[in-house]
Amino acid sequence: MDVKEVERLIKISREHPLMPETYIPWQLEPEPDDIFLPETLTSLQGLDIYETLSPSQKLELGRHELVQVIASYAWGECLFCVFMTRHLITLPADNAEHQFLIRELIEEFRHQEMFAQAIAKLGGKPIKQSRLHRFFGEFSNKYLPADYLFMGSVSVELITDVFGNHARKAPNIFPVLKKMFDLHNIEEGRHILFTKALLKTYSAKAGFIKRTLYSYVILFNILFVRTMYVKKEIYERIGLENPEQAYKLATKNFKQKFADNCLKDIIEFVDSWKGFNWLTRFAWRWVLSAKV
Ligand SMILES: [Fe+2]
Ligand SMILES: [Fe+2]
Repeated sequence: MDVKEVERLIKISREHPLMPETYIPWQLEPEPDDIFLPETLTSLQGLDIYETLSPSQKLELGRHELVQVIASYAWGECLFCVFMTRHLITLPADNAEHQFLIRELIEEFRHQEMFAQAIAKLGGKPIKQSRLHRFFGEFSNKYLPADYLFMGSVSVELITDVFGNHARKAPNIFPVLKKMFDLHNIEEGRHILFTKALLKTYSAKAGFIKRTLYSYVILFNILFVRTMYVKKEIYERIGLENPEQAYKLATKNFKQKFADNCLKDIIEFVDSWKGFNWLTRFAWRWVLSAKV
C-alpha cells in the first residue's frame, strides 16, 4: 500500500474518531417489536423446530445468539491486539504501518469495550470458548508468522463485517445494536483496506505452496469463527425439550446458512490471489460448503 494512502487512513482515524460512548444511544431500551438478531442468522431458522417456538422463545434465541456473536468478536479482537502489539515492536516508530497499527489497536480496544457494554445492556451471559478454541486461538497467535496472522485477521474481519451488515440492515433491529454495527462497519472498513493492501505484497510473492497454506489458514479461521456461535446451552436456556438434538440439527443448518450468507467476500479475496487449487478447493467445499 502506498504511504500516502496509509497516511490518509491514519488521518481519518485521528480526526473523525467514533466514540461508542456518544455514538450509540445507550439510554434506549428495546421496544416490544425490536429484535436482536435477524431471523436468517439464527441457528434454528429454516428447521421445522423453529416453527414450534413461541415468539418470545424466538426473541430469546436471537438475544442469546447475538450475545455469543459479539462476545466471540471481542475475544477474537483481543487476541489480534496481542499479536499487533508484538508486531509493533518490530517496526520503527516513524513507519506508516506502525502508526496505522496503533490507530487500529486504539479502535479495537474501544470495540471490545463497546461489545462488553452491549452484552451488559442485553443482560447477556456469554458462554466461554471451548478448550479447543482457546488452544487454537492462543497457539496460532503465538507461533504463526505475521503474514499468516494478517491473513487470518482479514478473513475474520470480512466475515464479521458481512454478519454485521445483515444485522444492521434488518428493519426492526434494536437501535443500540444497529449503531454498534454501524460504528464497527465504518472502522473495520479501514482495517480491511489496510490489511488487504498489506497482504497484496505478501501474496504477490507467494508461490504455490504458500498460497495453499494461506488458503488453509483462512479456511480454519472461518471454521473457527463459525463454530463459536452454535451452543447447546442456548437451547437449554430457551427451554427446548431436546437441546442435544436441536444442537445437532442446528450445526448442520447453520453451516449451510453461513455458506449461503457470509462467504462471498472472502471467496473473492482468496480467489484474487489464486488461493483455490487442487489441494485447497475440496477442503473449502467439504469443511465450509463453499461454492468454489
Ligand atoms: Fe473491531
Ligand atoms: Fe479490525
